[in-house]
Amino acid sequence: MEQPVSQVRLWNGGLAWMVTRYDDVREVLADPRLSSDMSRPGFPAHNASVAATRQKHRTFLNMDDPEHAKQRRMVTRDFMIKHVEALRPRIQRHVDALIDEFSAGPQPADLVTGIALPTSSATISELLGVPYEDHEFFESRSRTISSGDVEPVEALQAYEELREFLRGLVDRKRAEPAQDVISHLVELETRGDIGIDELLNMLRLLLGAGHETTANMIALGTLALLEHPEQLERLRNDPSPQRVAAAVEELLRYLTISHFGRRRIAVEDLEIGGQTIKAGEAVVVANDSANRDPDAFPDPDVLDLERDARHHLTFGYGVHQCLGQPLARVELQVVYPTLFRRLPDLRLAAPMNELPFKTHSVFYGLFSMPVAW
Ligand code: HEM
Repeated sequence: MEQPVSQVRLWNGGLAWMVTRYDDVREVLADPRLSSDMSRPGFPAHNASVAATRQKHRTFLNMDDPEHAKQRRMVTRDFMIKHVEALRPRIQRHVDALIDEFSAGPQPADLVTGIALPTSSATISELLGVPYEDHEFFESRSRTISSGDVEPVEALQAYEELREFLRGLVDRKRAEPAQDVISHLVELETRGDIGIDELLNMLRLLLGAGHETTANMIALGTLALLEHPEQLERLRNDPSPQRVAAAVEELLRYLTISHFGRRRIAVEDLEIGGQTIKAGEAVVVANDSANRDPDAFPDPDVLDLERDARHHLTFGYGVHQCLGQPLARVELQVVYPTLFRRLPDLRLAAPMNELPFKTHSVFYGLFSMPVAW
């Protein structure tokens, strides 16, 4: 018998209701009776490291309104489509320069460290006001925090190191403000709108979410296109902005790198898909399964770059819907067509089954991806 809302066992032995259908997932993510507050007892964290770091250092990702809205509003403008679109020419120039350097180097080479990470890290660094020279430091600490394969104490240590790094930047911007997100937040902190701890945690969230997620999508999306040559051919034959935008939405749906589901806890009794969920019970909202629901996407397991996939749930839904989605979209819309135009013979240089996938990380992706061209 089909049970679209069923109980599942979590890594820590706890139970959670898993919501799998597209309509139910949207309904749940829009329902204020489900809380994102990780400090509530019984909250279904992804793994022990996430539980340890996010409970100690709260960000608006794990707060409810009105606290969540108050903090999110402080950075909404910086990530709005209009603002982010203005960065497109700079992102294009940066990606072109990266490919120049990458293609002049030895083969095979790693697409993750050569193209994916430098695209997303440089973009978010510039927006926030973080020196890009420090990218190896913040990339490695972020990788540890979200890996899911380290002891919580190691993840906490990496978190503290990132916070100290960001504290140094905040002090510098206090002395010499610039046109960037850190300077803007320092101004708000000086006015008393936000405390220093909250500010550092928010910056950690923006820096981490801003580079890791998109880098994962760049590598996995490239891999998916290489594995579906007939789809790639269509994109090559018509790299118009509309076609590219549609392809990016379908890759986001098909790959759903936010693969561990959105995590929530019920604060009141409610009913989802015919199932009663009681106050205090944990919920895993499976946006990955929703993205493969045949009622929302016919032939959902087929990668079809021509389908309209704009209603996918890879960025979540409701008040916590991804703040950085316009930025992620612009980066992906620039990278894929540029990469395949500039390197027409791009190919995988290792067997698929030997690739190191980020199976346990908060976001799915690849640790490395050897390619030749
Ligand atoms: C929230 C996915 C890129 C910043 C989220 C959520 C998802 C998501 C699923 C919702 C979390 C929830 O409901 O519990 C993604 C994916 C990305 C991406 C798949 C890339 C392909 C980015 C970028 C940034 C960013 C580039 C830039 C800083 C955030 C922030 C939140 C968030 C701050 C919290 C929003 C809130 O709680 O109100 N993201 N994200 N993300 N994302 Fe992204």
